[in-house]
Amino acid sequence: MQDKTFLMIPGPTPVPESILLAMAKHPIGHRSSEFSNILKEVYADLKWLFQTKNDVFIFTASGTGAMEAALANLVNQGDKVLSLIIGNFGARWANIAQSRGAVVEKLETELGEVITPEDLKEKLAQDAKKEIKIVTLTHSETSTGAKNDVKALCKIIKDHGAISVVDGVTSVGAMEIKMDEWGIDVLVSGSQKGFMIPPGLAFLAASKKAWEIHEKCLYPSFYFDWKAHKKAFLEDTTPWTPAVNLVFALHEALKIMKKEGLENIFARHKKIALGLRKAIRALGLELFVKDDENASYAITSILPPKGISVPDIRNGFKNDFDIVVANGQNQLKDKIFRMGTLGFISERDLITAVGSLEAVLLKLGYEFEIGSGVKQVIN
Ligand SMILES: Cc1ncc(COP(=O)(O)O)c(C=O)c1O
Repeated sequence: MQDKTFLMIPGPTPVPESILLAMAKHPIGHRSSEFSNILKEVYADLKWLFQTKNDVFIFTASGTGAMEAALANLVNQGDKVLSLIIGNFGARWANIAQSRGAVVEKLETELGEVITPEDLKEKLAQDAKKEIKIVTLTHSETSTGAKNDVKALCKIIKDHGAISVVDGVTSVGAMEIKMDEWGIDVLVSGSQKGFMIPPGLAFLAASKKAWEIHEKCLYPSFYFDWKAHKKAFLEDTTPWTPAVNLVFALHEALKIMKKEGLENIFARHKKIALGLRKAIRALGLELFVKDDENASYAITSILPPKGISVPDIRNGFKNDFDIVVANGQNQLKDKIFRMGTLGFISERDLITAVGSLEAVLLKLGYEFEIGSGVKQVIN
């Protein structure tokens, strides 16, 4: 049926109707006072969402653009960067750092695991000369569904003296993340995730300490230059032509989010993700991230039952129910399927998804107690 597609991938995510309508307007001049008034509100609301006093810049880019905007404003050739890697997106930080001429050290885990505070303490203790200037990390690792304890890790990074550069692409707007209170130095995110708007905008906020390092950056990016963005931010504008209609969408999205409240947003995501995990276990399927404590609330990775393939499950979802779930990435392709539960997602969606999964599995010949998954999410 037309217009019934339900995206359960980790971005793009479904978009509320009022946001779609907010975008469906003629663009206005980006230097007009009308647009400046919108940006003024948007900038204030972004600070609220990032839980920070730092300015939050908007880039016309995807999440990777904001990652590049972070390191391209901090790294000089030969600088030592430590990348904490629990999956593809953690590895992306290392690749970007290398592209800026950094000397990159890596602290990696098995896929599905997280970096423990002990691992990080031990690693940083080896850096007796305090050569590591930047530590990159991922909050919600979308490729595996694991969640790093950003609060604990950033404290250790701060104690060492380096700055923390955090990927909050699938966590901002979905999971608790407090930039200032947790001492995060640079936090980036992207629009097609917890923000409930289409792809095309990316966000970055930087602490005072990060700005001090930026001051010594010899060749900062031009398009993503922090100084150009700061100047524009203070004048309620953007340095270059922004994606005006996406800013209309963001304006509306932030109003919706403020109405719901941060704590409620986080509680909703937590309840839905943990409900999904309970249902998966009740169906006898295996979760890729074993411990609920280490699980992202934005994305859940699931192993298919023996004898049933990931493509069969994804096709069943798509063909019978018009629900799109993601495959695993790279070495996890066809080993796991990933169900996104972020942004514009409700308990009704969860019941639909779990009921549909049961129907898909039944059709594929998997033996289980019908309703055992759904029972977990209606309790
Ligand atoms: C955790 C994480 N970081 C970074 C990115 C990259 O964002 P984009 O694809 O918007 O460039 C993604 C996208 O899925 C992500 O989930």
